[in-house]
Amino acid sequence: MPDRHPAIVLPRLIAHRGLSAHAPENTLAAVRAAHRAGCAWVELDVQLLGDGTPVIWHDANVRRCSDGQAPLADLDLPAARHLDAGAWFADAFAGERMATLFEMLELIDALGMGLNLELKVHRRRSAPALVDDALPLLLDALPPERLIVSSFNDAALAHARRFAGPDRLALGVLFEGVSRDWQARCEAVDAFSVHANWKRLSPRAARAVRDAGYRLLGYTVNDPAAFAPQWTWGVQSAITDDPALFDGRLSPS
Ligand code: G3P
Ligand code: MG
Repeated sequence: MPDRHPAIVLPRLIAHRGLSAHAPENTLAAVRAAHRAGCAWVELDVQLLGDGTPVIWHDANVRRCSDGQAPLADLDLPAARHLDAGAWFADAFAGERMATLFEMLELIDALGMGLNLELKVHRRRSAPALVDDALPLLLDALPPERLIVSSFNDAALAHARRFAGPDRLALGVLFEGVSRDWQARCEAVDAFSVHANWKRLSPRAARAVRDAGYRLLGYTVNDPAAFAPQWTWGVQSAITDDPALFDGRLSPS
């Protein structure tokens, strides 16, 4: 049976939030660093500012990764741009700014990279609003072979699926533990892939996912030795903060 999904060649390693072990997470600098380190794909998080601008950011507020304090929902683009999103990580990154989704997509396309974009829906934020603002940009910027949109939030995934069919848009369902209802969640959105917390993944669950025809990715893998058996369980990609940890530790295939 022909695969209904885009012809995505999953890399063994995906740089989590960009090369986040060596650059401030979710920034343009982190994506450039991932590219320089030889990564073909990055995982990034997207949310909306209060004015509706989609930006690349993980937390619900800016405390941990900038010199500001506010909830992301309280910022408009000028206020967000005012923040330093690099100095918290290292002096060398001082002056780095929060990236909009639009400029991040331009960079990823210019570098020829693939993107696993996580729709990050924090409490009291709207999943449909995020999807309405992010999906048109995404579909316009990247070809189907270089894009996976993932989320823990089923409403966000279902709404994303309304924008494009499975041949145009690969959707990944995120799991903490692969729950008993995992297959129903995947079928509901015509998913391409399962993204599982590798520390809670069992060989049995991995086999079930693969036998059902889904791709399987593990996050966030920063202990390649402990993770090694999971290559043989059928995990195809490890989403990691530091791909260099895997030097000489990748599975042969
Ligand atoms: O997409 C995998 C991983 O990024 C999910 O967790 O909290 O790092 O976004 P988090
Ligand atoms: Mg993420």
